[in-house]
Amino acid sequence: MIYLNGEFMPIEQAKIPVLDRGFIFGDGVYEVIPTYSKRPFRLAEHLARLQSSLDAIRIDNPHDKAAWSELVARIVAGNPWEDQNVYLQVTRGVARRDHAFPKGLRPTVFLMASELVTPSAELLKTGAQAIVLPDFRWLRCDIKSTSLLGNCMLRTEAAEAGCAEAILVRDGEMTEASASNVFVVKHGTVLCPPKSHLILPGITYDVVLEILRDNAVPHEVRPVMESELRSADEVWITSSSREVLPVTTLDGKPVGTGKPGPVGVRVHALYQQFKQRIMRAPAHA
Ligand SMILES: Cc1ncc(COP(=O)(O)O)c(C=O)c1O
Repeated sequence: MIYLNGEFMPIEQAKIPVLDRGFIFGDGVYEVIPTYSKRPFRLAEHLARLQSSLDAIRIDNPHDKAAWSELVARIVAGNPWEDQNVYLQVTRGVARRDHAFPKGLRPTVFLMASELVTPSAELLKTGAQAIVLPDFRWLRCDIKSTSLLGNCMLRTEAAEAGCAEAILVRDGEMTEASASNVFVVKHGTVLCPPKSHLILPGITYDVVLEILRDNAVPHEVRPVMESELRSADEVWITSSSREVLPVTTLDGKPVGTGKPGPVGVRVHALYQQFKQRIMRAPAHA
């Protein structure tokens, strides 16, 4: 079951006018909210990031937090999986084709869910493969825009090289990956780039930083050079669906020992504990 502009329906029945600016220009923003045992994880943070994305492209938020929470809850209840990715998208709406943002449109609101499958025990044991590519995307990667052509091109190049991710570098610095944030470990210290217009402020990135702080794991939030990425002892990618996934080869060469390293294994375990605690806590009314 999906939600479109006020109605719940099977996905086959959902129709969008061809002049929707989401279709014509990719003029919209989105969120993906992981839901474990039918309970959304970090919902308030996802809704805050949605607000920032909407503000950045000047779409009035069509719903308040309570209404969004209700829509998410109804989508979760209406779909069969215990663990779900709840996808929500807001576009500017339908208008005659003209680049400048028209005023007064009714935003298109769409929610759907899919099964959330986190990395298998097998993949966590071997780690994932990645390639390094130039980050040729635009300069507002902090907006969670549905205009994802650059990310799609980069991810396709990774997939064609038999890799799970493309890790991106711009002007000699690591930014993020095509659909995840990136952390590296050197001599026991975790390094990750600060939030800026060049990366998406990941919700998982924030959780990982909280975990590092709470467990006194040495870490530095500062620009990470491409040379540091390439000589790292460990590399991890983080996202809502991949959680904390070790990368064990970069451009076909082993990262560190070529096996998931001890810091990443520990942070992955701490992340699982963090999730369990959230799931045991009383549900919001
Ligand atoms: C480009 C990009 N960076 C980072 C992330 C990770 O964000 P989150 O941890 O909120 O899933 C994503 C998630 O899809 C992404 O698309």
